[in-house]
Amino acid sequence: MATRQRESSIISCCSTSSCDADDEGVRGTCEDASLCKRFAVSIGYWHDPYIEHFVRLSKERKAPEINRGYFARVHGVSQLIKAFLRKTECHCQIVNLGAGMDTTFWRLKDEDLLPSKYFEVDFPMIVTRKLHSIKCKPPLSSPILELHSEDTLQMDGHILDSKRYAVIGADLRDLSELEEKLKKCNMNTQLPTLLIAECVLVYMTPEQSANLLKWAANSFERAMFINYEQVNMGDRFGQIMIENLRRRQCDLAGVETCKSLESQKERLLSNGWETASAVDMMELYNRLPRAEVSRIESLEFLDEMELLEQLMRHYCLCWATKGGNELGLKEITY
Ligand SMILES: C[S@@+](CC[C@H](N)C(=O)[O-])C[C@H]1O[C@@H](n2cnc3c(N)ncnc32)[C@H](O)[C@@H]1O
Repeated sequence: MATRQRESSIISCCSTSSCDADDEGVRGTCEDASLCKRFAVSIGYWHDPYIEHFVRLSKERKAPEINRGYFARVHGVSQLIKAFLRKTECHCQIVNLGAGMDTTFWRLKDEDLLPSKYFEVDFPMIVTRKLHSIKCKPPLSSPILELHSEDTLQMDGHILDSKRYAVIGADLRDLSELEEKLKKCNMNTQLPTLLIAECVLVYMTPEQSANLLKWAANSFERAMFINYEQVNMGDRFGQIMIENLRRRQCDLAGVETCKSLESQKERLLSNGWETASAVDMMELYNRLPRAEVSRIESLEFLDEMELLEQLMRHYCLCWATKGGNELGLKEITY
């Protein structure tokens, strides 16, 4: 496999522009992910009328392989979310861990697919930013208020709690704080629950992500976990990605678990999850509906398919389930 790469391809999926303190580099990845998503949306890769309210349009173009990569990522995660919502007939919760500026809540509402309650968690500093945008932009606040029957909306600097949507500022490595805050926002451990970590676990040590996965498996009887992140990181491409990020003070502390699809599945299975599946993003791309692939491939010319293949072989989508046989959670597949 080729080891040649555009500089942008190898860092843009998780890079950061300024990292001064330990977690600052990790927090910076939020900006980068949302900039990439906004750019891809602006070209027409997928429809998201909400992302523009959270992040400006990047002045610099993102490479076509990056945009296609984000398309596959958003498509893959969204397919699994919808499969879970169908199985549970929306009588469920979604907890998006390290949600950054994710807009899934608003997009699900537009499709009339909201779960009983949708929670998001991220560092307090990121949540403060997100809440500021929500407060100032009616297209973001109106859908929340519309679903909220009471007069008052619980909102302070690091937390928003409403009937169907909550945003919580917390560190995912501090599980007692996380649980306390989620419970304060009426998280119901009896409801089938989908937890999502999109490009998040890799920033924690293997021990910290194992604890988070264990906590999630022990907290809910019927649950599913979606994890999107790096894979096949033991090769030259992986090494370059690690080095580039380290130079920017952004440590991929959990890279050890990103060795292979097997190591990804093994982490889920050894931390309380009963089934685990994983596909690399090239495999997922090859399984995308042909009409969608033709549409997005006509948006921008990509001269070297090798660049796409190389990038996509280094990311994966994993999902795991626990309980919920009566709902058919184990049958969910991409
Ligand atoms: C690459 S961004 C992805 C954001 C979002 N999931 C997406 O895909 O657009 C990683 C996010 O995880 C958050 N994060 C990483 N480690 C965290 C931790 N220990 N506690 C809370 N949030 C964390 C970061 O602040 C950032 O918003």
